[in-house]
Amino acid sequence: MWREEVGDLHKKSEWYSKGVGYWEKRVWRQSVDGVLGGYGHVNEPDIKSSEAFLNTLLSDRFPDGGRNRHLVALDCGAGIGRVTKNLLIRYFNEVDLLEPVSHFLEAARENLSLENLTVLDSHKASNFYCVPLQEFTPEAGRYDVIWVQWCIGHLADDDFVSFFKRAKGALKPGGLFVLKENIARAGFVLDKEDKSVTRSDLYFKELFNQCGLQIYKLKDQKGFPEELFAVKIYALTPDPPKRVNGARPKAHTNRPGIIK
Ligand SMILES: C[S@@+](CC[C@H](N)C(=O)[O-])C[C@H]1O[C@@H](n2cnc3c(N)ncnc32)[C@H](O)[C@@H]1O
Repeated sequence: MWREEVGDLHKKSEWYSKGVGYWEKRVWRQSVDGVLGGYGHVNEPDIKSSEAFLNTLLSDRFPDGGRNRHLVALDCGAGIGRVTKNLLIRYFNEVDLLEPVSHFLEAARENLSLENLTVLDSHKASNFYCVPLQEFTPEAGRYDVIWVQWCIGHLADDDFVSFFKRAKGALKPGGLFVLKENIARAGFVLDKEDKSVTRSDLYFKELFNQCGLQIYKLKDQKGFPEELFAVKIYALTPDPPKRVNGARPKAHTNRPGIIK
C-alpha cells in the first residue's frame, strides 16, 4: 500500500498536499464540529478522558502534580486549538501549537488570545508553527509533554518513525509523548479522500518499537458513539523500562541455566 501511495518523491508530495488540502478546502471545519468531522459532541467525553489520563501522568511524574513547575507542552496537528484550549492550557504554563493549515492556526491564535481565555496569567499559548509534522523538528529539551491527537494518520510510516525519533530530543528528562488515535480492528484502513491511515494497536506497537519508544501507560477511550473507530490514548517514553531492584532482565530468566 505504502509503495503505491508514497513510493516515490512525486507520490509522497501528492499524498501530503492532498492530506493538508482536504482540511484547507473546508473552511466550515473551522469549528469544533468541523475538526471532529461532524462529531462535535465527542469533544466533552474526549477532553474528560484525556484530562483524567493527563492527571495520572503528572502525578506519577511530580509529587505535587507539577503545580509548582513551569510545564511546557506541544500540541501537534492542533487544528483550531481545541485540545489546547479545553485541556492543555489549564495544566501547562506554555503550550506551543503546530498546525499545517494556516487558517486553522489563525483560528487557534484567536481562540487562545488572552481575551478569549479564562486561565491564570502564568498560562499562555506561546509559539504557533505553521508546518506539517514530517517537516518539523521541535526545540531540544523544551517539552514536558508532546501531545499528538488525531493527526498522525496523515504520516506515512517512515515519516512517523523519523518524526518521533527527532522529537525525542525535544522532551525534558522524564518527558512523555501522548498519542491519541483511532484504532483499526486489524491491519489498517486507508482513507483515499483525506489521505490518511487508521492503524491497528498492533501496527502502532510495531512503529513504537521502531521509534525506540515504550508504552508507559495506555487507556481506551469510553463513551463515544458506536459507529466510530475505537480510540486509544498512549503515553510513550523514550526511557528503557524500569527494572525492579534485584530483578534480572526478562530475557535471562527464560534462558536455560546450569544447575550449580
Ligand atoms: C481531525 S483534525 C484534529 C485536530 C486536533 N488535533 C483536535 O483533536 O481537535 C486533524 C488535523 O490534522 C492536521 N494535519 C493534516 N496533515 C497533517 C500533517 N502532515 N502534520 C500535522 N498535522 C496535519 C489537519 O490540518 C487537522 O488540523
